[in-house]
Amino acid sequence: MTQETMLHYLTCEDASELFEQARRVRYETKGHGVFLRGLIELSSVCERDCLYCGMRRSNPQTKRYIMTDEEILASAKLAQQYHFGTVVLQAGECVALWTQQRVAELVRRIKGETGQKVTLSLGERTEADYAAWREAGADRYLLRFETSDRALFAKIHPGAEGSGEHPRILRLRQLKALGYEVGSGMMLGLPGQTMASVVNDLQMIQSLHLDMVGLGPYLADPQTPLGQSQEASEVPVSVDFTCRCYALVRLLLPRANIPSTTALSTLDPATGRVRGLSSGANVFMPNLTPVTYRQGYRIYPDKVCVAAPELDEMTALLADFHTLGLKPEEA
Ligand code: 5AD
Repeated sequence: MTQETMLHYLTCEDASELFEQARRVRYETKGHGVFLRGLIELSSVCERDCLYCGMRRSNPQTKRYIMTDEEILASAKLAQQYHFGTVVLQAGECVALWTQQRVAELVRRIKGETGQKVTLSLGERTEADYAAWREAGADRYLLRFETSDRALFAKIHPGAEGSGEHPRILRLRQLKALGYEVGSGMMLGLPGQTMASVVNDLQMIQSLHLDMVGLGPYLADPQTPLGQSQEASEVPVSVDFTCRCYALVRLLLPRANIPSTTALSTLDPATGRVRGLSSGANVFMPNLTPVTYRQGYRIYPDKVCVAAPELDEMTALLADFHTLGLKPEEA
């Protein structure tokens, strides 16, 4: 697909033709299944200071918590009980807390005791850490590049200044070479982000041959420096625009696993999820973080939570799938 075509679909008046095409491709490659991934948010302690993130080190209002290994195992067992097939271990970046050894041990235990596949989302680490975790049995790794615009990336990630390669792209290549299934993506609507840079993001996604693509709207958090910025964005923060990107990714990478993200549901709790799943997305990630910790993992305000132990939420989720002619599939 040319850059002009992408730009057209991102900006045209009515994208229903694009959504229709994406749905068709989704059924061809993925059938009517939805993969469920149980998200376990291990800790809200973070040593980074990303300008957009509510969990950044310098936000004194964030409640910091750390799950114990036993709590993590208990959450993984819920995923097994609900037949999700996969758990995602995500945490704020903290090398001292998530040592190479501790994570490797957790991966071994989860795989051994629950049979779930393990996706890691623990940020930028050394190649040796990634290798050790792969060795321990980790199947997949998620690391969003956030924006392919190198200068904008540097502006919102203290420590990423300089002219070297985009630090996340570098790691995505390492992860791929280690045999992980690799997921990445961007935020949409960042101050200073251009439409042309979203086209580049989409081309980046395609050229990396990503197995999974996670993307969502940028949600301004007044507790962060970027959330207080008055700078405009060419890129809309909207359900429609996010869904156009899901649909384009479905056409660019027909077999990719694309979650309808929590940020999209947060932007529009009533329709976000259903619209995501009818624009090419085929994955949903229910939250398995223990209730007592959940509000600590506040990467943006009013984050919605669809959680597996809460039966009414699972029932509502399954009802949405049913409406769309979809059904949960273990993987
Ligand atoms: N709005 C939307 N998404 C955000 N993330 C972090 N902060 C925000 C925000 N304010 C996303 C980033 C990160 C993922 C875990 O959450 O893309 O990679």
